[in-house]
Amino acid sequence: MDSKYNLINKNIQMQKFQIKRKPSPLRFENKNDNHSPKRLVNENHIPKSVVMSNNHNSPTSSFNDFLKNKNKTTSIQEQRRKLPVFEKRNKLLELIRQHSTLIIVGETGSGKTTQIPQFINAARLQNNGRIAVTQPRRVAAISIAMRVAQEMGDAEVGENVGYTVRFEDVSSVRTKIKYLTDGMLLREAVADNLLMDYTVVILDEAHERTIHTDVLFGVVKQAQKTREEKKLKPLKILIMSATMDVDHFSEYFNNCQAVYLEGRTHPVNVFYTLIPHEDYQAACVSTFFKINKEAPHNHDVLIFLTGQEEVEAVAHQIRLLSRDPDVEGPAIKVCTLYAAQPTTQQMAVFQPAPASMRKVIVSTNVAETSVTISGIRYVIDSGMVKTRSYHPATGLDMLIVQPISQEQSWQRTGRAGRESEGYCYRIYTRKQYDSMNKSTVPEIQRANLATVAIQLLALGIHAVNFDFMDAPPKEAILAAFEQLRLLGAIESINSKTLTSIGKKMVQFPLDPRFSKILLSAQAYGCVDEMLTIVACLSGESIFLNPPSKREQAISARQKFASPYGDHIMLLNTFKEFSRLTPNTTSRDFKNTSGNHQRMWCLEHYVNLRNILYASEVRTQLSEICERLKIPSSSCGDDIDQVRKCLLTGLFMNVAELHKDRQYITLDKRQLVIIHPSSVLYGQQPASVLFTEVVQTSKCYLRGLTTIENKWLHEIAPDYIQSHNIRFNR
Ligand code: CDP
Ligand code: MG
Repeated sequence: MDSKYNLINKNIQMQKFQIKRKPSPLRFENKNDNHSPKRLVNENHIPKSVVMSNNHNSPTSSFNDFLKNKNKTTSIQEQRRKLPVFEKRNKLLELIRQHSTLIIVGETGSGKTTQIPQFINAARLQNNGRIAVTQPRRVAAISIAMRVAQEMGDAEVGENVGYTVRFEDVSSVRTKIKYLTDGMLLREAVADNLLMDYTVVILDEAHERTIHTDVLFGVVKQAQKTREEKKLKPLKILIMSATMDVDHFSEYFNNCQAVYLEGRTHPVNVFYTLIPHEDYQAACVSTFFKINKEAPHNHDVLIFLTGQEEVEAVAHQIRLLSRDPDVEGPAIKVCTLYAAQPTTQQMAVFQPAPASMRKVIVSTNVAETSVTISGIRYVIDSGMVKTRSYHPATGLDMLIVQPISQEQSWQRTGRAGRESEGYCYRIYTRKQYDSMNKSTVPEIQRANLATVAIQLLALGIHAVNFDFMDAPPKEAILAAFEQLRLLGAIESINSKTLTSIGKKMVQFPLDPRFSKILLSAQAYGCVDEMLTIVACLSGESIFLNPPSKREQAISARQKFASPYGDHIMLLNTFKEFSRLTPNTTSRDFKNTSGNHQRMWCLEHYVNLRNILYASEVRTQLSEICERLKIPSSSCGDDIDQVRKCLLTGLFMNVAELHKDRQYITLDKRQLVIIHPSSVLYGQQPASVLFTEVVQTSKCYLRGLTTIENKWLHEIAPDYIQSHNIRFNR
């Protein structure tokens, strides 16, 4: 057994996720020291006005039941009838009829997202238009559309119910209810700022305050007003969310009415750790095994962590440890859940564990509110979340792992009490909880606004004049406009219109820097190469890095490695993959060439799904290029063209070697180092451009290409001059 743990140790240490020894149980305190379990429903985080009750003891019918009775539509209908929104149906419809804007608040799992659009459709309140329902995450948009299509008895998605997410549109002229990511509805607004296709727009998960939802608030509010003024068909707006600060929303939407759905939450016993645990992953794992030993096998466990890598690493640890004969408790089925996961894999979390096994779901904050999983009785909350943050001061757009807000911590806790009394283990102390922000800071106040600014310009709005619910800091808006100016999308930071390059840039569903790269590619004769690189960067990593086989993976891919860096390595890998079978997408790969590809991917530690996704994205991007009359071209082995072309969009993301493997960004002179996952790790190229910054204990650069400083003078002379860029060498 010891040897096994050593093995685990080794793997984990290589991943920087360490368990030093067999995890020992943590010590927890119950929140109320008098040993009476903490009742979630009594918590003061819940706005007073929200009506909630926990006295319905009949558990909501579960998706598990639904799967067992897959072919009996009656059972789905029965399940629908048991949802809390069902009994409110008529009252809700009446309110929706009466009010042009309405806020609907209800516990996660009460049926808002799946049922309310169906109620509206059944009552034909959308008249001769469609119902749009936005979701912050593609995972949620897709899985919910599939569920609702089933509930409506459709043979497949894309008929009455459809979905649109980036690079994927599964809807038709017959579609009445369309689930979209908020980003996609915003793109539709760019094409038609009155959103005439829709008569009802539901902005769901509003409490998450994603940047796109925040912008949509203003866009739909304006569209509704303009449609009314012009006597066009009216637009109804519904704002839906889990428990939130309703007053703030209501005030913004002209003091509109809010309605609260009575949820069916059960008490949750909350525990805190006695001491802080910096290695929260190890703490989650050991807490899980404590639960596994003690709890009945049919009580499933949900663990909240921060990102895909971490989720996979912890899932891997649990799988390994569960095979240990010394581990007590039932056999374990481990599922993972994160935003960019392929749908099929994601759907597995909804399936019940085989008899006598326990299911554990290791998830990012996706499971917080946007998807509902039945059977969860235990929640383990790491207390951490990965968010994107832009710092105008450092000029860096970063992914940061940071503590969640108290609101989020209660959302996570609530996942344990959906069907009956549950337990939540918080991997933080009561004191740490007290120091958390009360609510989550809206993304718009901490993000790089260039994408938003360019989309608003396409709508004819200058972001400085936009009616934001919570306006971002002015310096962030100005930084965004400066970035757009440097990219050539606008003439000056006060411009209210886009240049012709800017107009082309908004055609791509990409960050303006990447759109710029694709537009420059024609001049550098490397359109084919840039399409590939940008497509590979648009999804999750095409490389597989199983924690236990890190070194094998690196050596298997060695032949694609490039001294120029990670982007060229992506290019090399994709090129070789495409040579196997040209023009294959995931839709038609179930054939012999599919097998061939699968073997090749296994051999080279390439993620088949992600590389197929990249090739679909590539096809779509190349269609946009075609529409923009950008002919295909290739620079062959002249890789300098590719490196220069990357620089046309990423000249603001350049770092120079400072000393001892330390780099310094040219823009705001921030100290950074190369991330260990980069192919350039361990080398010290003089200058690099980067696509991502990750901050953990240090600030890391990820996704690198070596460049020559002199190219910057050719490619971005204005930037060098106006931003006073100095070079070390
Ligand atoms: O939006 P809200 O959180 O209020 O609930 P919902 O997403 O409409 O989910 C209502 C119920 O539908 C959940 O309790 C699940 O049991 C079920 N559901 C499902 O089984 N599969 C899905 N993909 C989505 C929902
Ligand atoms: Mg929902």
